[in-house]
Amino acid sequence: MHQIDHSKLFPVIDRHVWLNHAAISAWPAPVIQAAHDFVDDNQSHGALNYEAWVATEEQLRAQLAHFIQAPFADDISLLRNTSEALNIIAQGLSWASGDEVVFPANEFPSNLLPWEWLQKKGVIPKAIELSKQDPEQSLINAITPKTRLVAASSVQFDTGLRLNLTRIGEACRKNNALFAVDVIQHLGALPLDVSTLPIDFVVCGSHKWLMAPEGMGFMWSRASARAQMEVALPGWRMYPDPFNFNRTDWTPPDTGRRFETGTVNMFGIHGLAAAISLLTELGTHSTGEALLDRTDYLVNALSQNPRIDMISPIEREKRAGIVCFRAKDTNAECMVQALANKEIYVAKRGHNIRVSPHFYTPYEQIDTFLAHIEDQQLWQQCAA
Ligand SMILES: Cc1ncc(COP(=O)(O)O)c(C=O)c1O
Repeated sequence: MHQIDHSKLFPVIDRHVWLNHAAISAWPAPVIQAAHDFVDDNQSHGALNYEAWVATEEQLRAQLAHFIQAPFADDISLLRNTSEALNIIAQGLSWASGDEVVFPANEFPSNLLPWEWLQKKGVIPKAIELSKQDPEQSLINAITPKTRLVAASSVQFDTGLRLNLTRIGEACRKNNALFAVDVIQHLGALPLDVSTLPIDFVVCGSHKWLMAPEGMGFMWSRASARAQMEVALPGWRMYPDPFNFNRTDWTPPDTGRRFETGTVNMFGIHGLAAAISLLTELGTHSTGEALLDRTDYLVNALSQNPRIDMISPIEREKRAGIVCFRAKDTNAECMVQALANKEIYVAKRGHNIRVSPHFYTPYEQIDTFLAHIEDQQLWQQCAA
């Protein structure tokens, strides 16, 4: 990573110890600037520059494709969030009674509900507990000839476990099952290269590791997977020339746009475009390594404390930006609140504490967090 002044690029550093990027990130300076510019444009010109906004939208499709190493911008659908994308997949595939969907049992609800809902169509949702020793194998063992789709987050929101997508994807391929991957806890934290992965769908939202405004997400889909899907939600925005309202042929395109419906989130598009430009410029390989260095540092320090049970994997290659641990015999909510009172922001997930720095987080801030977590007073105050 070339020398950059992080406090200028990431103004949150001057105000808080923000270790909660797995929830929502503060916007970096270029995203804040893009938001200001969009407001200024509206204030001065209303929607007169709409054509330029549409150009930014088009550019974002190409930026996103490049960011995940996808060969074609046409495989990108601009959507609202991860849930929308996963529901588009669930409702778009044509299911037969007895078809199965395999997914990890402890997924974030956006990756459970669309599959559970399919029970109404006779589909069998198989929520699989991931073993600690070999979580990928737990999913692979659950795949049968009836399995139509495997869905998983590449990084689990509650443990920080990073799954080996190649292993799961290859098992899907062998069994003619599709593989949908929620990368909201991965993209922006670590690089992603869909060109080398045996996956069919990638879905993502923008407000976590990508550090962009909420309400904006996207899906990448492989053309062969898309070809198996109906358009469940038709809309005028799915056409390459959406402003031609007099068309007579309403055949949906076969590109990713077929899953887009009506008016797009122009504000979100401008914010996400700025965020992707920044991350592309910084280089996701170096930012990814910088983030893993920080989570290694946290895991090493926290593992020294006998009163802490590490929930996240110890191995660097099995983690991304999330470190989860259990402070034994304490109330996690009390701990998280006590830290927030000191301007240190982490999250409670279940009975655990989830810490999620980003690549720019200064080590001094991580040390500040660690110093507080070692503080006996905190443990006494939050004793369960
Ligand atoms: C793994 C995972 N998927 C999805 C989401 C969010 O879903 P959506 O984009 O639908 O709000 C989260 C977190 O909020 C998450 O951790």
